[in-house]
Formats: sequence, C-alpha cells, structure tokens
Amino acid sequence: METLVELIALKRDGGHLTESQIARLIRAHGAGELADYQMSALCMAIFFRGMDDAETVALTRAMLGSGDVIDLSDVPGLKVDKHSTGGVGDKVSLCLAPLVAACGVPVPMVSGRGLGHTGGTLDKLEAIPGFKVTLDVPTFRRIVREVGTCMIGQTDRIAPADKRIYALRDVTATVEAIPLIVASILSKKLAEGIDALVLDVKVGRGAFMKSIEDARALATALVRVGTAAGKDVVALLTDMSAPLGRAVGNANETREALEVLKGGGPADLLECTLALGAEMLVIGGVAADLAAARAELRRAIADGRGAATAEKMIAAQGGDPRVVEDTSRLPRAPHTVEVLAESDGFVAGIDALEVGLASVAMGAGRTRADQAVDHAVGIDLEVARGDEVRRGQPLARLAVRDVAAAAETAARVRAAFRIAPERPAEASLVLERITSRS
Ligand code: URA
Repeated sequence: METLVELIALKRDGGHLTESQIARLIRAHGAGELADYQMSALCMAIFFRGMDDAETVALTRAMLGSGDVIDLSDVPGLKVDKHSTGGVGDKVSLCLAPLVAACGVPVPMVSGRGLGHTGGTLDKLEAIPGFKVTLDVPTFRRIVREVGTCMIGQTDRIAPADKRIYALRDVTATVEAIPLIVASILSKKLAEGIDALVLDVKVGRGAFMKSIEDARALATALVRVGTAAGKDVVALLTDMSAPLGRAVGNANETREALEVLKGGGPADLLECTLALGAEMLVIGGVAADLAAARAELRRAIADGRGAATAEKMIAAQGGDPRVVEDTSRLPRAPHTVEVLAESDGFVAGIDALEVGLASVAMGAGRTRADQAVDHAVGIDLEVARGDEVRRGQPLARLAVRDVAAAAETAARVRAAFRIAPERPAEASLVLERITSRS
C-alpha cells in the first residue's frame, strides 16, 4: 500500500485518487497520523490539480463519514433543506424554512454564523430573546417532526473533518478550490439527513463568487456531486451585487424576514423566498410544478400558516414567539444616524461588499470566528436600486450605540451608493437555474 506522502505526491502530479485512498487520507488526518501541514499540502495540490466528480464525491463521503448523519426516518415526507453560499442581507432562511414547512415539506436546517462581510443565520436567530441554536439531536429531530422545521448550529458530530480542514484552508489560501468547497458544503448538508437540497449560489460583489462563470462552475459542481451522492439537488444563481432586501445586521434582518411571513417585506426578498421555496415544494413532492408551488407559498403567507409555523419553531427553541406579531420586541440600538444623498439622481447600484463591511465595522458581524456580535446594531437601506432620490434625502439609517463613533461607517455606507443621472435597466434576481439535467 502507498504511503500517505505518496498519495499527496500522486495528487501533486495530477493523478487520480481512488475512493479508498481519499477515505484513508481523511481518516488518517482525523487520527493524527497525517499532520496538518500534510493535509495543507494536499489541499494545495487539489487547488492546482482539481478533482473529478468521482474524487469529489469520495471526499464528500469521507468528510461526512467523519461524523454522524442525523436519522430523520421517523419524520414523514421528503426532507428538503436550502443552502446559500452567503451574502449581505441574506435573511432568506428565516422566512423560507417556516414557510416551506407550513406547506408540508419538513426542513431540517443546520446553519452557520457570519464571517467576514457576510451575515449568518444563527446570529440573526439569536437576536430573538431566548432563542437557542444549540440543541441536542433528539430535540432537533422532535422539533422537525412536531413543527416541520428546526434551525440549529453545526454540532461537533456534524462533519468534524470539514471543521478541521476548513481551518487549515482558511490560513493556507486554499478556500477557493471548487472540489474543496463542494465537499465542505455537501458533507455538512448531507449530515442533516435530508433527501434533497436547493442551493442559492450568490453572484456578485457581496458574494463569495464574484463572476457568473465562477458561480456557474460552483453550482454545476454542487449539483453534479450532490446528485452523484444520491440526493435531488437544484441550484439557483441569484444576484448579490446589492444587499438583499433593505436590512443588514441581525435583529433588523430578523424583523424583515418576519415581515415577509406577514405579507410584507421588500420585493426582492419575497422573490428570492418564493423562487427557492417553489423549488423546495416541487423537489419535496408537494407541488406539481413551480407555478403551483408559488401559489401555495403565497397562500401560506396570506392565511398566516407561515407566520404560525415561525411562532411554533421559535417557542420550541426557547425563544419569545411574540416577536412574530410584534417585531418591536427585537433589540434595536438606541440611536439612529441618517446617511443622506449628496446629489439628485437614480440609485444605479448599492455595493453589497461595502455595506457588508460597514455592518461588520459597526459590530453586527465578526472578523474572527471567536468574536461576539451586537444584535441590536444594523443598517436599514431606505432606497433600492432604480429609485429616484433627491439631494438630502435619507439613503440609509444606521441603528448605533454611539453616534460619534458612527461617522466613519456612515461615510462608508454613503460611498456604497452609486447615484446616476439615468434610471438603471431592470435586473433580475434569479440569474440561472441549474439542475442535474441542465
Ligand atoms: N462554505 C463552506 O461551508 N465551505 C467552504 O469551503 C466554502 C464556503
């Protein structure tokens, strides 16, 4: 049998690793027989040489097998989750999961925290007083069965190999390798015990993938590898050049997501929720086609089923369910700073990356994984792309704790707005749809 060093050399030289060789490498790393510097070298070899689908499936399975797969066989129906590659203002999971569950598709969701300029679902949920994102697996299973959805953080037993390898990739410039990203995302999602997955691959300034070509390559690989791993997978490429919705932060994003469940909320957030939700209802087998699925999602908003499911989920997870009815129960920092337009014109663009970084600088996000976030601060955009504005009109309002300290952030948010003399052309939110047949 080859040594572990010979296997690293095989990939370095552009060779193909077999399923059992990949499993050996991952097992050896978990057991401490393959050192972190050797795993880092392997990641760099994969970065330059790539992996084919069979290798990526084997890597996904090996990372999945480093932990447990949650058994949801006692929950009736096809279990479907959604994963977003992350963006600014992306609070879709908070309204999507209860809405889809209310339509009869169980949604077991293991989510992440914000890192860098992108926010995380867990931080937004924790803005709800009392809400617990750390639950044991039997409780998670019971809530999915009784309520239809439960949203928790990654446990130590969910793909621990991914946690170890991601920490190395983060500091060895090997995050941006498609096979590594695919195995990282899918190993965690497959551990949830799902039957199918809908992916929201974000594209643009505020996203991980800045170009449509890169996003398409990632989405295609995720769909192919997820399908080869035996799951039904669909991906939508959606625009992340501007923040999604109007709120960027934590409590304010939760507020906005709850507004969608009550029939309000901004048009782009509703559209993203309906587009992904429709895929989930079809793939989950409760709607015949996307049009019927959209109609059912709209009914579940109009008749209050989505909001009622959110209340039940919040109560089951220890949170105050009254926030759904009365979002003023969510925390909000005491002071407001207005960001005013400096000229007349049309909003031609709002740079999602700059708004995300401004939000982090205010304390709503983190630059290191061990930092705490301030749930009460955030940015509320007062205008959207395409709106006409007049000089002196508020473009955004910042919820802050210290007005003097917010001056720099306010300047940064102002600079994120591109005001032009002409109204920009309409742009669609959903850019492409990728299935195993596309
Ligand atoms: N998100 C993940 O979970 N893993 C990656 O490798 C990149 C993004």
